This record gives sequence, structure tokens and C-alpha cells, in this order.
Amino acid sequence: MSIKQLYNELDTTNDFERNYKVYGWVRTCRTSSSILGFCNLNDGSNPEGLQIVISDKTMKQENLDDFFKDVKTGVFINCIGKMIKSPAEGQKYEMQLEKFELTGKVDDSYPLSKTKMNLDTLRNYIHLRARTNTFGSIFRIRSSLMKYLHDFYHKRDFLHLDPNVITVNECEGGAGVFQLTEKDITNTSDLKLVKDTKKYDWSTDHFCRPAYLTVSSQLQLETMACALGNVYTMNKSFRSEHSSTSKHVSEFTHLEIEMVNNTFDELMDIGESMIKYVINRLLNEKRSDMENLNKFISKGLIDKLIKLKENKFIKIKYKDVINEINEDILINKNLKLSKLSDGDDLGSEHENYITQKYDTGVFVTHWPIAIKSFYMKQCGDGTCESFDLLIPYGIGELIGASQREEDLDKLSNMMDQKEINKDDLSFYLDLRKYGTCPHGGFGLGFDRLLMLVTGMQNIKDVIPFPVYYKSCKF
Ligand code: 4AD
Ligand code: MG
Repeated sequence: MSIKQLYNELDTTNDFERNYKVYGWVRTCRTSSSILGFCNLNDGSNPEGLQIVISDKTMKQENLDDFFKDVKTGVFINCIGKMIKSPAEGQKYEMQLEKFELTGKVDDSYPLSKTKMNLDTLRNYIHLRARTNTFGSIFRIRSSLMKYLHDFYHKRDFLHLDPNVITVNECEGGAGVFQLTEKDITNTSDLKLVKDTKKYDWSTDHFCRPAYLTVSSQLQLETMACALGNVYTMNKSFRSEHSSTSKHVSEFTHLEIEMVNNTFDELMDIGESMIKYVINRLLNEKRSDMENLNKFISKGLIDKLIKLKENKFIKIKYKDVINEINEDILINKNLKLSKLSDGDDLGSEHENYITQKYDTGVFVTHWPIAIKSFYMKQCGDGTCESFDLLIPYGIGELIGASQREEDLDKLSNMMDQKEINKDDLSFYLDLRKYGTCPHGGFGLGFDRLLMLVTGMQNIKDVIPFPVYYKSCKF
């Protein structure tokens, strides 16, 4: 059984008579004069691992000799022994080793030392870093966070459907797509060109036309919603923007939801409830991993999350945010913020300022349609029913959302204005022709939500194998 299961078993049965068998990688090993030695075994199932006590009282001499000869940090062993309540502080139970078997040796070059390694150094060992305490906690929390989100939507009867990630639409227009080809484009002589042009002849490629990795599953999700009611996806999205920030990767996990017959306020409210729900469950059910991060890596994390889940998020219109920031700049000469004009996007400095000022989640609503996407519901005054949810603690934009323009003529005109090619989007326009309905949805960067709940400052540290601008290593 896993070490976590062993702890649960002992908690419920209190059976200290029988032998137990566990396995794992040795984190640390030390000898002690009073007994003979201790080692910490970790199988990834919990943050603390299991303390193994090595003593000549419970082990045969020859097994004991082998132990001290072969067992060192990084090896994989199976251990059999009786469990006791630990007499020492720091752990609840420990195993008195009777027998062990070493099945995975470790080379002397093993890079994970006993001493604490910093996050930057560990980024050179992406494939090994999950064996450290910090990354063990992060990835266990990642798994639970995913489950809680699924639970949240299943409880509300949303259908989980993942549309295609190989697509022909660019959804966001300008988010930066990766184009797909089956050809080896290093062999340019093998690429067929359209006659008398310098253009590649896509009809000779896999799909006989250009295709992309999706930047958002929204448009397909809308068609599902307009037949089945509320839906969501956990697809990956892919973006080729050249951003080397701590919040952007080229491939990210994108929770997108689409609701029908809803109001704009309901869309914000479900976003807020979802975030508070998962924070609550993490604090209750992943306590030791959260405490591990709170203690060693993100001081104050738990207090911040408690505050975030208890404070009501606020809703402010885009134009009021712009005015407020500009007024604050006038009043407070020490504010190092650039002034904003109507129609400007908010920079991360502005996002941080406004979330710090209110110290809670901030829905910035009613953005100018000129800087937002073609599908957003128009308000008739140049703005649209859209919101970005901004989160404090350096997270910034966590959710991008809108009600959808359901009027065929308004949508079609906006597509013309934004020069969106309608050929591939006839399926989307059909939704407005055949039984259109009010609907809306959002996209949440799952990895950014994980940054929030773990307190990690860099998105690359919450993704098992991050892929980002100028870096694809695995
Ligand atoms: O604001 P975005 O671009 O919205 C959409 O894609 C809509 N089609 C969603 C919808 O309505 N269904 O992206 C949504 C969220 C962002 O708020 C951000 O959290 C995350 O996706 N995101 C990224 N996360 C990591 N790396 C990137 N390069 C990201 N780009 C967006
Ligand atoms: Mg956005």
C-alpha cells in the first residue's frame, strides 16, 4: 500500500500487530548511536513520507550490513516491518524495519542533495524535481484542484465535453496560433507551391488545408451548449505569443465553461463561487501539503487564501477603472504607474495596483469591443458585456469572459469590422440562425489558478513539463 494509505489504515484499524510493506525512494538516511539508523522513505503519496527505523533488534545482521552498504539518498526500496506510534516529534507513525529489498540503485551523480535547492536550480532538473518536498506538494495539489473543479461543475449538472484541439478557427483572432503540417519543412524542395506563386499548396498536406492547434475551445463549446445546456472543457490551449513572462506558457490547461439562458451577473457569480469552493476544499482536504508550502515556500499563503475566500469580489466597469487609476496618479505623485486612455488595455502594473487597492478579486467589466473579441455581446455604446477577473498577489488576469452576441446581424457586422473570415465559421453563425439564445462563458487559466493556491510566483513551477517561448525540452 502507499504510505498515505498506510497512515489511513492505522488511523482506522489501530492494528499494530501485523507486518506492513511499503515502497519508495529514500530521501535521507542518518545513523544514530542510540538505535542504529533512521531513513525517510517517500513514495509521493504524502508530503512527510515515512520514517524507517533501522535497528539490530528487528533486523538480522546480514540484512543490516547490506542496508548500510547499499542504501543512500535516491535509491528505491521495498520495506517490511511493524508499525508503531512514533515516540519522537515530527511524525505520527514509524516503521521498525525487519526486511528490505533494494530494486533501484542510484548513481553517485544523483543531483538532488539533502540541502535545500532553489527553484531556479531545480528548473534544470524538471524530470527529477517532483521528488522534492515542494514539487511533491505542488503536483498533489494540482491533481486535487483538477478534481475539485470537476466536482464543482458536475454538482451543477454541467456536461464535461472536450472539443477538438486540432482546429481550423482562430477563435480569439490574434492570440497567436501554431500552424500544423505533416511535412518536414526543413526540406523546402519537397514542399509543393501553388502554381505561379510562392505560396505553399496546403491541398498537399494532411488536412488539405491550413489547420491549427486551438487557442480556445469556446466556439465549439458554444454549439454544444446551444443543444445540451451548460457545458465545460478541460482542454489544453496553445498560443504562440512571444511572451517570456512568469504567467505565460505556450501550452496551458484551459478550463472553459459555457452557460445558456444566463445573465452576465450569473457568469461572474459562478466564477467567484468556483474559486472560493476550490480554495475551501484545498484548505480542508489538502491541509498538510498546503501547510508544507505555507511554511517553507510561500509564507502567509493560507492567510491570503482565507481572506480571498471570505471577501466578496468587486465588480467595476472598465471606464471607471481607467478614471480611478488616472485620478490616483494625479493625487499620489509617488505612484509609478503610466496614465491610461480610453481604449488602452491594462498592463500588469495596473492589474496589480487595482487588486492591491481593493485586496480582493476584481471583475473589470464592459470593455471596449474594439480591444476585445468579435463574439462578445455588444452593449450599443462601444462596450461589450465582457469581464476580466483580476486576482491579487501578482496573479493578475485569471479569467476572460463574456456574454456572446446572439444577434446574427450584429455578430456578422462585427466580424466584417474585425475582418474575421466567415468561411470557416458558418457553423458558428448557424447558431444565431437556428434557435439563437442568450448565452455566455469564460476561460480560466488552470495553471494560473494553481499559482494562486500554491503561492508560486512562476507558472513554469506549477506545470509538470512546461513548454514556453524558446523552450520545448521534453
Ligand atoms: O482571456 P482569454 O484569451 O479568453 C479566451 O480564450 C476565451 N475564448 C475564453 C472563453 O470565453 N471561453 O484566455 C482565458 C484565460 C486567461 O484569463 C488566462 O488565465 C489564461 O486563459 N491564459 C493563459 N494561461 C497561461 N499561458 C498563456 N499563454 C495564457 N493565455 C491565456
Ligand atoms: Mg484575456
